[in-house]
Amino acid sequence: MVPELEKVTVLMKNPEHVQRVISALRKEGTDKLQVISDFDMTLSRFGFNGRRCPTSHNILDNSRVISEEGRKKLQDLLHYYYPIEIDPNQTMEEKCPLMVEWWTKAHNLLLEQKILKSDIAKIVRDSEVMLRDGANTFFDQLHQHNIPLFIFSAGVGDVLEEVLRQAEVFHPNINVVANYMDFDDKGVLRRFKEPLIHTYNKNNTVLEKTEHFQLLSSRTNIILLGDSLGDLSMADGVPNVENVLTVGFLNDKVDERRGKYRDAYDIVLEKDETLDVVNGILCYILGDLN
Ligand code: TMP
Ligand code: MG
Repeated sequence: MVPELEKVTVLMKNPEHVQRVISALRKEGTDKLQVISDFDMTLSRFGFNGRRCPTSHNILDNSRVISEEGRKKLQDLLHYYYPIEIDPNQTMEEKCPLMVEWWTKAHNLLLEQKILKSDIAKIVRDSEVMLRDGANTFFDQLHQHNIPLFIFSAGVGDVLEEVLRQAEVFHPNINVVANYMDFDDKGVLRRFKEPLIHTYNKNNTVLEKTEHFQLLSSRTNIILLGDSLGDLSMADGVPNVENVLTVGFLNDKVDERRGKYRDAYDIVLEKDETLDVVNGILCYILGDLN
């Protein structure tokens, strides 16, 4: 059905369930489908040639507009809080307040740097960010078939939009909810807009003010893509869900986290830097239309 599911990177707790959902998604057609995806380390690459690729926050942190001292402090935060973010032995409830702490401290440090709106494009161009292999096919297929793509990110909205723009994949079928910057009338960063989105509050509570899912009420079939267990709640606000297929990228601490990911996601992609499997599923669902 989907040859890409034979890849060695693929792990499925219940392959029959996966086959059933994919069949249903194909049968019900593109009019009922929407894709909901995380951005950092899901649509963007985790690593390349043995080096880590930057998140949307890291793109700013590593840029020349940040002072040496600011960069050091941001790195210290990453080294302290990232192991907590991915720790399989702490619950989401335990992690939540710590994530709020991380995001708040990081945003405050970024605010000290007087970042200009007009610098964002160059900051992104000079960065080492990369989308996953196959990203063009992924974005173009969804666009061609008018399938809405909702990107729900705890990253920096202005930065991730620019990544998509520079890759020429920021098509009109895409909607983004993320942490957006607010600039003063001189174009200097003055605050981050509310609500604060972190890894473990990607759900209804931060979407209340957006009517996004209500506008898509006929899109009751969902493909959800994420890399964190917190990403699994991204579709909670979708009314009358019929079929959901969840795909999780397991990028880091693979041995420690494999069991939890296999239980939580329908399809786990272990150290797979490509969107091949997702593209294969889409290709099958979209059928001869391609
Ligand atoms: P995502 O929801 O698009 O994956 O973005 C969130 C990621 O950003 C999360 O995995 C942690 C990461 N992050 C940084 O790299 N640096 C930071 O300063 C913060 C607050 C988050
Ligand atoms: Mg992510």
